[in-house]
Amino acid sequence: MNPPITVAVTGAAGQIGYSILFRIASGALFGPDQPVNLRLIEIEPALPALGGVVMELDDCAFPLLNSITATSSLDEGFKGVNWAILVGSVPRKAGMERADLLNINGKIFIGQGQAIQRNAAADVRVLVVGNPCNTNCLIAMNNAKDVPADRWFAMTRLDENRAKSQLAQKAGAPVSSVTNLAIWGNHSSTMYPDFFNAKIGGRPVTDAIPDHDWLKGGFLTTVQQRGAAIIKARGLSSAASAANAAIDTVRTLHSGTPAGDFTSVAVCADGSYGIDKDLMFSFPIKTDGKKWEVVQGVPVNEFSQEKIKATEAELKDEQAAVKALGLIS
Ligand code: NAD
Ligand code: LMR
Repeated sequence: MNPPITVAVTGAAGQIGYSILFRIASGALFGPDQPVNLRLIEIEPALPALGGVVMELDDCAFPLLNSITATSSLDEGFKGVNWAILVGSVPRKAGMERADLLNINGKIFIGQGQAIQRNAAADVRVLVVGNPCNTNCLIAMNNAKDVPADRWFAMTRLDENRAKSQLAQKAGAPVSSVTNLAIWGNHSSTMYPDFFNAKIGGRPVTDAIPDHDWLKGGFLTTVQQRGAAIIKARGLSSAASAANAAIDTVRTLHSGTPAGDFTSVAVCADGSYGIDKDLMFSFPIKTDGKKWEVVQGVPVNEFSQEKIKATEAELKDEQAAVKALGLIS
């Protein structure tokens, strides 16, 4: 057996926490030969509920679950962690945009960034899920300057999975046949699911789906508004699918992307595709499980360029807003 990998999850007693912890403990992140230590971080009032989650984890008798720590101390929670999955924050309600949460959630990521810098393992990688996740990630990264910029990720895999599922249903094809689906930009209603470069069974989506009006219209809005549609239907924001996307993201970053394919995650922009440096921007990414890179040379036509610029503009506005709030320098 390998030495355990230590994974911190914030907001561990919440909806996403309840969906993600059991899958991490059962081996869904790192495979059937990899033990894990779980660090469960919550605010103090949620510790009794978290105690119940710990009882249930115990009651599963997961062979790969080496240890569980439940705490409201960020220093204890992030001590020696190899992966930090930052979920803990307030979800939006019907009628809100995710950016409306910046005032409430943004400050959470200052202390968490600082605590990760003080305590985490030298190889720490961080995935931010709590919304608005791109800009919350920017805040955490700015408050942990000693942790290299290539270790910070914000989740857009849920958007990628949603887009693949919509395309597969429209084409009457299995979802596993949809590849090369890039999500560009912000995890928000401006995000751009790039159908022009996606493939179904190796064919361009624009050949496999002749209804281009749908691709440019209903497909885009369905993916962009999916989070809001779930809140309207459930009265609560997505949880199981969000947990699943977080598992998919970490597993891919840990084990690699298939040859010729890519995945989507928001990373610190390095100037690729003309995007303003330092924004946390979702790009097509490829990785061998150790190093990742933005896939270069993905064609961007006029239609796509307009959408990418709109989502970049929104992220710049969010960046200016958190600067004005003093959350980043
Ligand atoms: P939830 O309200 O069910 O749970 C959130 C948990 O976070 C609660 O248990 C709360 O006590 C805890 N918490 C609050 N502040 C904290 C802090 N400072 N430190 C540690 N824990 C803290 O919410 P949820 O449905 O699990 O959603 C959590 C977040 O994930 C929301 O911001 C939501 O919008 C976001 N989300 C993102 C995506 C995505 O694709 N990026 C998808 C779904 C949800
Ligand atoms: C989602 O996309 O489902 C989440 O970001 C939750 C939300 O607020 O829409």
